[in-house]
Amino acid sequence: MKPKKLIIKTVSQKYSILIGPNLIVNISKIMKKNLNNFEKCLFIVDKKVPKKFIFLIKKSFQNKNIFFEYLTMNEKNKNLQTVNKILKILLIKNFSRKDCLITIGGGITGDVGGFAASLFKRGLQFVNIPTTLLSQVDSSVGGKTGVNTKYGKNLIGSFYQPNLVISDTNFLKTLPYREIICGYAEILKHALIANKKFFKYLDKNFLRILKLHSPFLENAIYESCKIKKDVVQKDEKEQDFRKILNFGHTFAHAFEATLGYSKKLNHGEAVLLGVYIALSFSNKNKILKRNEYSLILNHFKKSSLPSNINKFFSKKNINKILSFMQKDKKNISKKINLILLKKIGYPIINNSYKINYIKSFLKKELNN
Ligand SMILES: NC(=O)c1ccc[n+]([C@@H]2O[C@H](COP(=O)([O-])OP(=O)(O)OC[C@H]3O[C@@H](n4cnc5c(N)ncnc54)[C@H](O)[C@@H]3O)[C@@H](O)[C@H]2O)c1
Repeated sequence: MKPKKLIIKTVSQKYSILIGPNLIVNISKIMKKNLNNFEKCLFIVDKKVPKKFIFLIKKSFQNKNIFFEYLTMNEKNKNLQTVNKILKILLIKNFSRKDCLITIGGGITGDVGGFAASLFKRGLQFVNIPTTLLSQVDSSVGGKTGVNTKYGKNLIGSFYQPNLVISDTNFLKTLPYREIICGYAEILKHALIANKKFFKYLDKNFLRILKLHSPFLENAIYESCKIKKDVVQKDEKEQDFRKILNFGHTFAHAFEATLGYSKKLNHGEAVLLGVYIALSFSNKNKILKRNEYSLILNHFKKSSLPSNINKFFSKKNINKILSFMQKDKKNISKKINLILLKKIGYPIINNSYKINYIKSFLKKELNN
């Protein structure tokens, strides 16, 4: 199968995203074609990525000057200490700006590694090899990098576009099903904010996509990346328009934070709950019409996607949820900014609501 290719052109960088199976077998050749000459490469690898993939990469590079660092990647380690660890290796091994840092892992690995790449000597070449569905359809596109602090998620970071993204779909075969659902959450979000035709494609083929069947999987990754690419090209640094990508995320981030980022609810599942609740808010505020709303609810139901916030929260969580929503980076006043949906493909941004208004909405959504 020929890889699908997307080219992203932002003010700061032009780069390719390659999507398909068996790409890493030829990684050395692909990098030579897409990057400036480099002498050394440091691979930052999530420890959970099976070694059989790393073996293929080593084979492709043969005797080149490559180094591997295997790290435990989770939200707790997505911090400045991990960034420091990476910077130290680059310094000790005397990397130059012409050399290359490559991340192999999910969104956490790409965000941390990309941030380190942006800092080292003010930026060295960076290749992102996303290994989760979420990172292939979302986080590897658009150049947001960063880490968490005790004050909140992703509050320290930079915009740093990679020089190349290689989305080898073989990685997804070892991913737990729960993580596949997380990636699907962002695919669905992209369809809802940008493309009704793509939503219909998902509605027809979601089972094939979730089972990782070709070419449905590659098509879904490609379309999802294309939607994000179009948004990022218009507004690389999230001045305004890029905010549409946060559809459902104001609720989602608050849900995750309220549960202390526990395994009970991971990021993608929180996004699905957040999208579901933002749809309900849009409908109850007469922004999203009943027929389109039903179409989307039906998709959630058919595909058994997480949608019931009552499984995770009760009325006693509302104040905590609201306090996290207030910390959202998009808020510019005391009100809470929400991205809402008018109809599929038509999001609306810059709607701010008083805290008490959202509080009474949440009270009605929660049963106990
Ligand atoms: N930069 C952006 O624009 C952007 C966008 C969305 C999300 N994010 C960030 O991405 C992160 C979530 O990304 P994620 O869902 O990929 O999480 P992740 O990196 O934690 O990966 C999910 C899980 O899958 C494991 N894993 C990774 N590849 C595997 C493989 N091939 N086989 C088996 N297991 C594998 C990981 O170890 C982890 O346990 C969050 O920190 C979020 O803030 C960033």
